[in-house]
Amino acid sequence: MGDTAKTVARKQLPLRPAGPDTVAALLDWYDRERRDLPWRAKRGRRSDPYRVWLSEIMLQQTTVKAVIPFYEKFLRRWPTVEALAAASLDDVLAAWAGLGYYSRARNLHKCAQAVMAEHGGAFPRTEDGLSSLPGIGPYTAAAIAAIAFGEPATPVDGNIERVVSRLFAVRHPLPAAKREIKRLAETLTPQRRAGDFAQAMMDLGASLCSPKKPSCLMCPLQQDCHAHALGIEEQLPVKLVKADRPVRCGIAFLALSEDGQVLLRKRPEAGLLGGMLEVPSTDWGDDWLPVDQALIAQPVRADWWSVPGVVSHTFTHFRLELMVMRAIVPVDASLTFWASPERCRWVPRRDLGHAALPSVMRKVIAHALKEQ
Ligand code: ADE
Repeated sequence: MGDTAKTVARKQLPLRPAGPDTVAALLDWYDRERRDLPWRAKRGRRSDPYRVWLSEIMLQQTTVKAVIPFYEKFLRRWPTVEALAAASLDDVLAAWAGLGYYSRARNLHKCAQAVMAEHGGAFPRTEDGLSSLPGIGPYTAAAIAAIAFGEPATPVDGNIERVVSRLFAVRHPLPAAKREIKRLAETLTPQRRAGDFAQAMMDLGASLCSPKKPSCLMCPLQQDCHAHALGIEEQLPVKLVKADRPVRCGIAFLALSEDGQVLLRKRPEAGLLGGMLEVPSTDWGDDWLPVDQALIAQPVRADWWSVPGVVSHTFTHFRLELMVMRAIVPVDASLTFWASPERCRWVPRRDLGHAALPSVMRKVIAHALKEQ
């Protein structure tokens, strides 16, 4: 069947407006097909708010697959909000290393302390109460209120945005359409099983209702989906094209001591990768500095050797390209003023795996040491 014929055939389907029957069909599907995720309560059991909160903070900007090992590690090490509140920030940052967006880890720790100090160790139940805590924005507050406490709250993340924009055939482009999509999602949120409803929408968006080639034939909402009836599901949601990310460039200096330690520097507490460790580098600017100027930022005077190639890393707002210089230096080499010696420390290579090193710095170290 050609595209036109397919569209006409679909238009002839009797289309119900999405409503309580849609919700019931989705919950039936969820009862059969729900993903078994480590933070999810078993069927018929109550959710643990600590686990729900921890998972939702980790899942911000990150995929379920990437989160699971970190979630399991955190839960083993800090099984309760009380244990996490008592941990040191450096330990939390080190355990978070590799998950990205490190302000989340700092807020996670602050939030655990606020729950202990201001709420007697129990998370607030409502969206408003949850939103007053560090690191909990509107989406996360709604997700925790619904999943942990069964409140009729409506979290809308990217997956749910896709499901709702298709279900109601919202053709206005994102991000302007966010409010309309949230309002439409709220019309569906049930009073009972709001947490299951939210998770069912998440699961549907993560499986059948995929961005490309959605599996409409298997979808429990096919009969209710206006985009499907119009044959436009693959075109939705419409997104305004984003401008390319700017590029920033820098030169990193990997100093290796004669006894096998690597010189690392703690980044300032505020700002990008705040409080994490880094390989000392020049400032990150619009272009690479010529080598003689870059050497002003060398952390220790040495014969630097330029490692061939470039390390690239994409942050939310820019792409970073780092050239890497490497040198072997005596154990007692004195650090230069430019290295901010008070923030530097030597770390044995065998301890790097447990250090609070963000992914970009792990890439720099691996690149610098790969030909050793
Ligand atoms: N993405 C964000 N929160 C989620 C959750 N609770 N389950 C599955 N995917 C999610």
